[in-house]
Amino acid sequence: MNAVPQRVEHQMTDKGYVPVYTTAVVEQPWDQYTETDHQVWATLFERQQKILVGRASDEFLRTQQAMGMSAGRIPKFDDLNRMLRAATGWELIGVEGLLPELTFFEHLANRRFPVTWWIRKPEQLDYLAEPDLFHDLFGHVPLLMNPVFADYMAAYGAGGVKAHGIGPEALVNLTRLYWYTVEFGLIREAGGLRIYGAGILSSKGESIHCLESAAPNRIGFDMERIMRTRYRIDTYQKTYFVIDSYEQLMDATRPDFTPIYARLATQESFPAGQVLDTDTVYNRGTGEGWLSDGDV
Ligand code: PHE
Ligand code: FE
Repeated sequence: MNAVPQRVEHQMTDKGYVPVYTTAVVEQPWDQYTETDHQVWATLFERQQKILVGRASDEFLRTQQAMGMSAGRIPKFDDLNRMLRAATGWELIGVEGLLPELTFFEHLANRRFPVTWWIRKPEQLDYLAEPDLFHDLFGHVPLLMNPVFADYMAAYGAGGVKAHGIGPEALVNLTRLYWYTVEFGLIREAGGLRIYGAGILSSKGESIHCLESAAPNRIGFDMERIMRTRYRIDTYQKTYFVIDSYEQLMDATRPDFTPIYARLATQESFPAGQVLDTDTVYNRGTGEGWLSDGDV
């Protein structure tokens, strides 16, 4: 039997019945992982390890190794937590899946990173619509060992609590920042552009596409510009934003966003694939394969 997420109930919405996850923090039920679960972890881990050489940020590869994650078995949160707490004060907590926004922000602000405890099924190796253990653990967790990135994530959580109090438009702006950095960010390193976004790091197809395809735009990081830019949730990104360093990310997001949200509320958003005159362009995408609708 495969370990399955325990969905507490289903709720009727305009999209039909959708699962509602418990917000509870759960012990990682490590003994309940099946051989199939460990095998899925091993297959994905080995596959990404190979693909990410020369593609992932040096700092990601370094921190991943320092944490001692390996293909053999699904890591135990307790083991990773000993190292994480010592390095940056972060810890992992087990959850069933996506959390309500405010709950998620509060965890981050307190240096708790929620990790979905269950792993995808063998027939979902290449894609699933929601985060699972592989995405959360392989993609997000290593960089929490880096002090600057660790501070960025905690500051983001505190900023999320604040934006939540300001209103839904502020949250939209802040969520775009998360999407284009934490999930789909690129970084410029000595060897060239590299990946640090977890949504890319946990995806075989996008790991190659984001760096090697001529289709997407690759544009220099610009915080307010990102907060105005819509994104894709069901296809590869049309645009990737490139930071020069993790310090740049931290420094750019230090100011109080309250006046920025007020200004952005009066401005139009940009389509996901648009290039502006003011952009620093590393690659102007050909747009090949882009769907004309569906930016969120
Ligand atoms: N400085 C931001 C604010 O005042 C918070 C933040 C920090 C947001 C880091 C994102 C990343 O809202
Ligand atoms: Fe994620």
